[in-house]
Amino acid sequence: MEKLVITGGTTLTGEVSIMGAKNSAIAILPATLLCKGICTLNNVPNIIDVNLSCQILEQLGSKITWVGPNSLTIDNTNIYNTHAPLDLTSKFRASYYLIGAMLSRCKEIEVGLPGGCNLGARPIDQHIKAFEALGATANCSQGKINVSTNKLIGSNIYMDVVSVGATINALLASVFAEGTTTIDNAAKEPHIVDVANFLNALGADIRGAGTDLIKVNGVQELRNSVTYSIVPDQIEAGTFMLAAIASKGDILIKNCIPEHLDPLTSKILEIGGNVEICADTIHVWCKNRVNKTVVKTLPYPGFPTDLQPQIGVVLSMANGTSIINESIWDSRFQYTAELNKMGANITAQGKSAIFEGVEKLYGAPVFATDLRAGAALVIAGIVAEGTTEIFNLKHIDRGYENIEKKFASLGAKIERVVEK
Ligand code: EPU
Repeated sequence: MEKLVITGGTTLTGEVSIMGAKNSAIAILPATLLCKGICTLNNVPNIIDVNLSCQILEQLGSKITWVGPNSLTIDNTNIYNTHAPLDLTSKFRASYYLIGAMLSRCKEIEVGLPGGCNLGARPIDQHIKAFEALGATANCSQGKINVSTNKLIGSNIYMDVVSVGATINALLASVFAEGTTTIDNAAKEPHIVDVANFLNALGADIRGAGTDLIKVNGVQELRNSVTYSIVPDQIEAGTFMLAAIASKGDILIKNCIPEHLDPLTSKILEIGGNVEICADTIHVWCKNRVNKTVVKTLPYPGFPTDLQPQIGVVLSMANGTSIINESIWDSRFQYTAELNKMGANITAQGKSAIFEGVEKLYGAPVFATDLRAGAALVIAGIVAEGTTEIFNLKHIDRGYENIEKKFASLGAKIERVVEK
């Protein structure tokens, strides 16, 4: 078993470059199934969820070659298997994208019910609603989903909840659907736009991605090759922005899209931190203890739920009492119990938590309860007095490439240790 051991009390300074977006990459990888030739993807994060996606695609017939540390080619000329490996697909959430992509490619697919972080109930009713609207039949039983169709026909899909996954799946399934599909109340996250840009680069006709009404005019075929670069990961960038604030540090974050971080930038300025934007870099620094605030997570362009635990660390040490209301996930405050072990004073109840700001955190053994909780604990360990050990690294490695190397390059005393 591996653990991260952090000797805290560090002020982070320096430059860091942002990887390609996890939540784009794990959608664009299955989206390549719509191309009957070779796709070259650049800026691909080398993380567990991407490696899992590649392993699953290979079992369907894809030939994948890493041609650089963050570049790969996928040859999908010969897709022969419509049964995705249940053990792998149930390990993470994004396996549900195989459904939309394989419906378009082969008109049928069987996958295991998606896994992923335990953030409370994670239904997929809106995905199923979209597939059925397009003319597919779905059956869920014994931990598997079978979806098939004779023909996909364009339709008007209204999402009852704003869902990133269902919006992307509806896009994937509608590219070849006869006629026009509209997706109303669509999610607007940068990775929705990225998936649409990728599909359009292949010749799809998708308009309005990034707004709440997306229109897809069905096409008969796509190009046989494309080279595409995945957008920078706004959550990794936000994690470093908040690490700069929590450690009263000074970090230049390179290779990011600052507009994707507007809600976080506003919050940082509001609590007394400093942010300077220049082209694709964000400079963040802070000298003093930050002020209390209220945060409510919302779909993009609201404050991202995937940065909620990281800002929780900042607010646990703010001057005064802060409140976070989590509106996306039922169970995203598990990290607060771990932060309390480090001296924080947080009371979480249901989807709200009250943060009584303390002056200092203290090192302790803690467990990453999910991906972003893990990132938050890394920040907490870096600023805490004394030594922090973080266990359960499988969550962190699903979504952050070289997390300890990147923080170490900013001055953190952090190492990965194999526990005997
Ligand atoms: N929902 C439904 N029915 C559905 C789908 C979603 O009720 O059919 C609800 C969910 O229960 C939730 C809300 O709608 O309350 C939003 O869920 P969404 O579908 O947007 O989430 P997701 O696609 O499963 C993605 C990211 C998450 C991120 C959320 C919200 C991936 C693989 N995951 O999940 O990322 O928190 O969007 O932005 O893209 C992470 O990276 O740490 C992570 C958890």
